[in-house]
Amino acid sequence: METKFNCSTFIGLLMIQSVALICVAQDYDFFYLVQQWPGSYSGTQHSRCYPTTGKPAQSFTISGFWPSYNNGSIPTYCDPNNHFNETKLSDLISYLQTDWPSLACPSSNSTQLWGEEWEKHGTCSESGFDQHSYFLEALTVKDSFVDILQMLQVDGIQPDGRVYNLNSLIYNLKSAFYGYNVGIECNEDESGNSQFYQVYSCIDRTGISLIDCPVLPDANCSDSVVFPSF
Ligand SMILES: *[C@@H]1O[C@H](CO)[C@@H](O)[C@H](O)[C@H]1NC(C)=O
Ligand SMILES: *[C@@H]1O[C@H](CO)[C@@H](O)[C@H](O)[C@H]1NC(C)=O
Ligand SMILES: *[C@@H]1O[C@H](CO)[C@@H](O)[C@H](O)[C@H]1NC(C)=O
Ligand SMILES: *[C@@H]1O[C@H](CO)[C@@H](O)[C@H](O)[C@H]1NC(C)=O
Repeated sequence: METKFNCSTFIGLLMIQSVALICVAQDYDFFYLVQQWPGSYSGTQHSRCYPTTGKPAQSFTISGFWPSYNNGSIPTYCDPNNHFNETKLSDLISYLQTDWPSLACPSSNSTQLWGEEWEKHGTCSESGFDQHSYFLEALTVKDSFVDILQMLQVDGIQPDGRVYNLNSLIYNLKSAFYGYNVGIECNEDESGNSQFYQVYSCIDRTGISLIDCPVLPDANCSDSVVFPSF
């Protein structure tokens, strides 16, 4: 277990101004890497628009990289003065367009989504993560651990519009993630069927290794779920 640094006690003990700098470091326990199946970003909850850069590839894409607490709560907007600045990401834009596209309507070039994610979640990561390293970390984690679609296809689970048994889907996902505890989330397609929407995996607070998710959101899935094509 990691020892948490308690800023208020420390300031109380020392009462020196410079210590406040250290305390910009945010308190959180781990990251959720949430990946979505773009074929399921449509249904009763969202309408889907392709980004101005075109239809994304057939692949899971990043939906969020969220510093979180072990009790499941997710801190937000931790540093309102740290505004998103696209210029800082110029070398990452093409990777973000591939791996973290906005599917919201109206169509956009996705920078608004990245800005919202930075201000809502990125500012809650350790002070060691500036804008560039936060987005680079999310991309690296997505691309270096598990290609979800490819791993599921090995087990015969593919986005073909068919219905899959929830337990076998979870079993196969867990083995794709080397046995680590991961979660899924479903939403509802146009016909009211439960569809496989997102995968939650967990990364330690330094962003280096996969861990068992300490807590997972309610999957909201039926016993059998549709895996729609895209
Ligand atoms: C979860 O833990 C964090 C950090 O300890 C705390 O600030 C927050 O209030 C807790 N939330 C709930 C719902 O217990
Ligand atoms: C955005 O970042 C660039 C590169 O670091 C910097 O030159 C520029 O001043 C920043 N813009 C704002 C509004 O902070
Ligand atoms: C995206 O569009 C916004 C305005 O719509 C613009 O300010 C921004 O520079 C564009 N970014 C890229 C990467 O094309
Ligand atoms: C949970 O699933 C139901 C039925 O499929 C759907 O109506 C609802 O919007 C979903 N809730 C969330 C939070 O995704």
